[in-house]
Amino acid sequence: MTTASFDSVGYRTSAAGSREIMCHTLSHVKLSRILILFPFILFAIVFVNYYYLSKVENDAPNSDIHRTRSKLEAFEDFSSLKASDLKFRIEEMLRIRGSVSMELRDLEARRQRLQSEVVTYSQRIDELKGELLRQQTELERLKISVEQAQVARREAMERNSPDLALPHRLYPSSKAPKLSPPGLEERSSCTMHLCFDYSRCSLTSGFPVYLYDPDEHQVLGEVESFVKTTVRQTLGYNPHFTDDPSTACIFFVLVGELAAVDMDIGLVTPQSNLTLPKILLAERLAQLPYWAGDGRNHILLNLARATVEASIHNTGQRRIIGDLFQGVNTGRAMVAQSEFSPGTFRSRFDLVLPPLLGPPGGDVWQGVPPVLPARRQFLLSFQGEYIPGPATSSSSEPALLDMHLRAMSRSATSDEFFFQFDCGENDDDKGDDGPDMEAEKNPSLGEWTLCGLSSSRMAFLSVSTFTLIPAPSDPSIASTTLVQTRLWESLRAGAVPVMLGGDRLSFPFGEWVDWARAAILLPTARLPELHFLLRAVTDPDLAALRRQGRLLRERYLASVQAVTDAAIAALRCRAGVPPAPVDDEPSPSVFNSTFVPLKMDAVLPETEPDESLGPIEPPYPSPKFKRNYTFYVSQGHEVWNEWVDPFRLYPQLPFDIVLPSDAKFIGSGLGFRPIGRGAGGAGKEFCESLGGNVPREQFTIVMLTYEREQVLINSLSRLYGLPYLNKVVVVWNSPKPPLEDLRWPDIGVPIHVVKASRNSLNNRFLPFDAIETEAILSVDDDAHLRHDEIMFGFRVWREQRDRVVGFPGRFHAWDLKYGGWLYNSNYSCELSMVLTGAAFFHKYFAYLYSYGMPQAIRDKVDEYMNCEDIAMNFLVSHVTRKPPVKVTSRWTFRCPGCPVSLSEDDTHFQERHKCINFFSEVYGYTPLLNTQFRADSILFKTRIPHDKQKCFKFI
Ligand SMILES: *[C@@H]1O[C@H](CO)[C@@H](O)[C@H](O)[C@H]1NC(C)=O
Ligand SMILES: *[C@@H]1O[C@H](CO)[C@@H](O)[C@H](O)[C@H]1NC(C)=O
Ligand SMILES: *[C@@H]1O[C@H](CO)[C@@H](O)[C@H](O)[C@H]1NC(C)=O
Ligand SMILES: *[C@@H]1O[C@H](CO)[C@@H](O)[C@H](O)[C@H]1NC(C)=O
Repeated sequence: MTTASFDSVGYRTSAAGSREIMCHTLSHVKLSRILILFPFILFAIVFVNYYYLSKVENDAPNSDIHRTRSKLEAFEDFSSLKASDLKFRIEEMLRIRGSVSMELRDLEARRQRLQSEVVTYSQRIDELKGELLRQQTELERLKISVEQAQVARREAMERNSPDLALPHRLYPSSKAPKLSPPGLEERSSCTMHLCFDYSRCSLTSGFPVYLYDPDEHQVLGEVESFVKTTVRQTLGYNPHFTDDPSTACIFFVLVGELAAVDMDIGLVTPQSNLTLPKILLAERLAQLPYWAGDGRNHILLNLARATVEASIHNTGQRRIIGDLFQGVNTGRAMVAQSEFSPGTFRSRFDLVLPPLLGPPGGDVWQGVPPVLPARRQFLLSFQGEYIPGPATSSSSEPALLDMHLRAMSRSATSDEFFFQFDCGENDDDKGDDGPDMEAEKNPSLGEWTLCGLSSSRMAFLSVSTFTLIPAPSDPSIASTTLVQTRLWESLRAGAVPVMLGGDRLSFPFGEWVDWARAAILLPTARLPELHFLLRAVTDPDLAALRRQGRLLRERYLASVQAVTDAAIAALRCRAGVPPAPVDDEPSPSVFNSTFVPLKMDAVLPETEPDESLGPIEPPYPSPKFKRNYTFYVSQGHEVWNEWVDPFRLYPQLPFDIVLPSDAKFIGSGLGFRPIGRGAGGAGKEFCESLGGNVPREQFTIVMLTYEREQVLINSLSRLYGLPYLNKVVVVWNSPKPPLEDLRWPDIGVPIHVVKASRNSLNNRFLPFDAIETEAILSVDDDAHLRHDEIMFGFRVWREQRDRVVGFPGRFHAWDLKYGGWLYNSNYSCELSMVLTGAAFFHKYFAYLYSYGMPQAIRDKVDEYMNCEDIAMNFLVSHVTRKPPVKVTSRWTFRCPGCPVSLSEDDTHFQERHKCINFFSEVYGYTPLLNTQFRADSILFKTRIPHDKQKCFKFI
């Protein structure tokens, strides 16, 4: 009876019901006491009964025997009774005994039943207590949520700075005023503010770049076909390229490299001493349709390939290189080339370009020697020929160089040098074209000839630690194609360039690129100290110089695409216009527009931790593109020299600047959620606000799945009620769409199922437009993480935004037997990777992985269907030079009951060994770094007073 009335109690889940539950619980407590007493009462009744029965028997009417008589007397009585009477009495008594013992058995059974009921009830009580706790937690959490929502609302109300509206775009008036060209004098002092028309390039213009069709507008003659084709093509790939000259900000005129000179003009070039009036060239330029009288915002591109002397051999054709514009009035146009005749380079106006020695585009890491060993066979190499001129004194720069190098090679150290003072000697490839053009240029001035192309040069450069490249002795020469070519080659071979006179030279994109981090720029006067200086460079510095040289070459010099992109970026940065925004990957849904996937109610996870982990918030995408006009100004150096590229604008960066902590309370508090509103606090306050050094945010879970629907659905269900979760993006790698009758759990946030174009593990890192937060939590579809672990990981990531922050740690170990790297997943006290099967990273790295990382790595991932996590760790460590962060003591993260995943089998491991070695080859070194620390929450394992809470119960 009582049980029935209690069965209906307790399963209410609404917050309002929790009070009710509490009342029931109280009555339960009283009842349980009664129930515990009940068996004793029953016993008492039984005893009383028994006593009563025996009394009744004794007081039977047939007997007048007093019931207090002794046993002996009773026996006498019995003996005096008739046998039949006795028998009857015995039977009677036996019957009574039987009925009593039956009653006793009944009572005993009853007692046991009641006892077990008592046990069940007390279990129920415990359950209800647990439920109460959960409900209280939930209530607490709802309260926090409400509070947070109120803060957000107040913020929205108080916010009197609405989102910036774009200013009106400045369009160049259709008829640009025709200005008269500056005189030669004024031309030579052109700077951006004197000669550049900023009004054509408003901040919001997107910096459109127009290219005059090189076939239609041949200014000087026919442009060499490789240059023409590749420049046209690579500019076409650049996001700033436009077909519409009326909106263009800058105009490229492809002038060279010339395959043939238009004989109408004639020029003074190193190769020809044709001297026809240069005024003709100026006239040709002035005829360009958008020249507007003075050629403002025009870039005269003169690209050099000519020191690829091989092409001269092959074709027997001599191309026209050098400074085509020497003595020509180019108006207000900028000149971009690699050779500037003495005194003509206008700093911060003209552009030094590298020679076009690489392929049109694509991966450029192949064939480049590795960064290590830091020290190579030869300390220094040099190849050149010195022909003293009649007028050169022995104290002239070239003569001194000659003397010092010869002395150095005779020095008493064990250093080896590779010096070649005679171009003819080993230069077997040298054709019949006679002496090198540079020698031809100034044969009588007493100048160094840097020998022409030689097949042996790459060979000795790649075994040289340093290579010496002297600047031309005329200090007014800012750059020559020959010096730039030697620089290019030395970077290609990994010989650290020692630029003698480097302090006066100009380098490609030198306004932005810090060449001192990749080359040793030495004033000529330091020549006597050269040997000492080179010996003093330490191994870490050497490796850093070489690595940086490799990076700069790959990014800005190695291919035609790199050169054109860098040229545009350099000009754009000068004008202060932000780059084009990076493209997000479209995320088409796997469901068509009419199909509504079936839903199922959320199942409360069986082991929901009864601690509140944070408020339930409405979705809050991370603000994006907030620093369009500032991040170049404050972090331009890093953009060009460290992170991956200055070519694109990223919505947010993991390197964004952090405000000082007092700013949160002095005027810049928008979006911040300081703990205890700034007063701080232990667990209770901690779980209410995100705290940290950056404003509030949420994260997106990205889950890759392939034909494991039930595993996926189970994993998704477990995400119910996860605080700060913005969205779940499921990447559906299978070509088969999900079953129509598959029921998707309702977890309180959107689940976006993206149809992948093909089955690739690289899809895990695509920067989908559906991902609206900076933080991405990448998880395997069978990963089993607790909510508190995810929450803690998120909080740690928020202060380690440029790293991979995750749970399962791995490391790379040296193969002691055979050399090379091995992948290792054993327990270890040193880590170098965190598997992306359960890790946080910044969306920026998804862009880099998909668009910036060498294609060969993504191809390898596809080839093996493996290693994408290793590739991500390599990438992040390469960009940041930091190891990943491991959080919590969790070593594995698979669900216990799930089928053993393929990562256990042996070929999987073999492939992972191979991946590490292959990726190291692509980067030229192994970017992974070791780490020995693990993040646990601050009060973990700390004894704290009873009135305080830990940050997390278990971590
Ligand atoms: C060009 O210059 C060279 C050397 O200065 C000279 O030998 C040659 O005759 C000149 N050619 C012409 C066409 O002037
Ligand atoms: C959408 O998908 C459903 C189920 O896959 C299918 O029945 C329906 O015809 C599709 N509708 C369109 C417009 O393709
Ligand atoms: C910043 O750039 C992005 C991408 O081009 C654009 O959507 C956004 O409106 C820009 N913001 C401002 C304030 O200019
Ligand atoms: C991991 O440890 C076990 C036992 O110590 C050892 O047999 C195994 O070779 C180790 N695995 C790797 C990859 O080092």
